[in-house]
Amino acid sequence: MKWPEAVTIKEVGPRDGLQNEQSFIATEDKISWINQLSHTGLKYIELTSFVNPKWIPALADAVDVVKGIERVEGVTYAALVPNQRGLERALEANIDEAAVFMSASETHNQKNINKSIEETFPILKQVVEDARASGKTVRGYVSTVFGCPYEGNVSIDSIIRVSEQLFEMGINELSLGDTIGVANPKQVQEVLEKLLERFSSEQLAMHFHDTRGTALANILASLDMGITTFDGALGGLGGCPYAPGASGNLATDDLLYMLDGMGIHTGVNQEKLLQAAFFIQDKIGRPLLSHNLQANQDQACSKI
Ligand code: HMG
Ligand code: MG
Repeated sequence: MKWPEAVTIKEVGPRDGLQNEQSFIATEDKISWINQLSHTGLKYIELTSFVNPKWIPALADAVDVVKGIERVEGVTYAALVPNQRGLERALEANIDEAAVFMSASETHNQKNINKSIEETFPILKQVVEDARASGKTVRGYVSTVFGCPYEGNVSIDSIIRVSEQLFEMGINELSLGDTIGVANPKQVQEVLEKLLERFSSEQLAMHFHDTRGTALANILASLDMGITTFDGALGGLGGCPYAPGASGNLATDDLLYMLDGMGIHTGVNQEKLLQAAFFIQDKIGRPLLSHNLQANQDQACSKI
């Protein structure tokens, strides 16, 4: 296997990590957590989501969160945006980057954003165009790449079609979502082989949920294919409320532990990241899932 010298970690904990939480984390705690994350060396943080608050009540305070945080130079602050109304709110809050999203499978797309795949294209096209016209960069997500909670297998043709459409709209990077954490390394390499015939490794990122414990193995498979951008949620928080069975994201701290040990540079400080994980664990009020955090529970300031 071949390893790169450096990789970029994109922290999606404040958005993907918190969107599935039943209890509402206070706005000031979200802000305080994000401020801690900004000082860990992370260069990219997805702060929240400008979706309909009725669909995701946990992130109903999106504007206040984005307006309330301290901006650290060199860090990109992004947020999820599903449509024009979301973009208006995101621009009002002055995000740096909008992240648009849709699924490669019809049923998950419908359940998650209340539209067919075909109906979604023109909506996102307009969002990308307007975001770029406002000087923002746009990231894209394609969900259910490795399996759909409603349809099972997802064809490579659907994945390619959605990916091509998103790039044509003008996104600068595409994050490939294993929404329900079903991927395995062989499948990751097979899907990437096809996508890398069309897009460069710099244009792609991987977004693994760790439902079945395969996320780190999938990272190794992706690294071997030349991918160097990975999403993670601190402590292994996360999940999509509209994807039954989706549990936490790959824990950023587990990812960092592995990459540091392999001598792959990320610029992120393990100790600072751990302290930020303990902070949010304390606010959530239950032990988080990440292996690294569990191995270090004795360092948590308040015992749960
Ligand atoms: P809809 O109900 O079809 O929207 O929802 P609509 O356009 O028909 O509007 C209905 C009402 O919602 C209107 O208000 C709109 O103004 C309002 P009314 O006139 O009835 O008072 N509305 C909004 N309000 C605030 N912000 C908005 C907004 N849009 C409409 N942006 C919609 C369509 C997309 C909005 C809805 O389905 C939704 O919010 N879905 C979000 C679901 C979600 O957030 N899922 C989790 C994120 S995706 C994910 O986790 C996967 C990922 O991590 C990658 C992976 O793991 O694979 C990214
Ligand atoms: Mg996700």
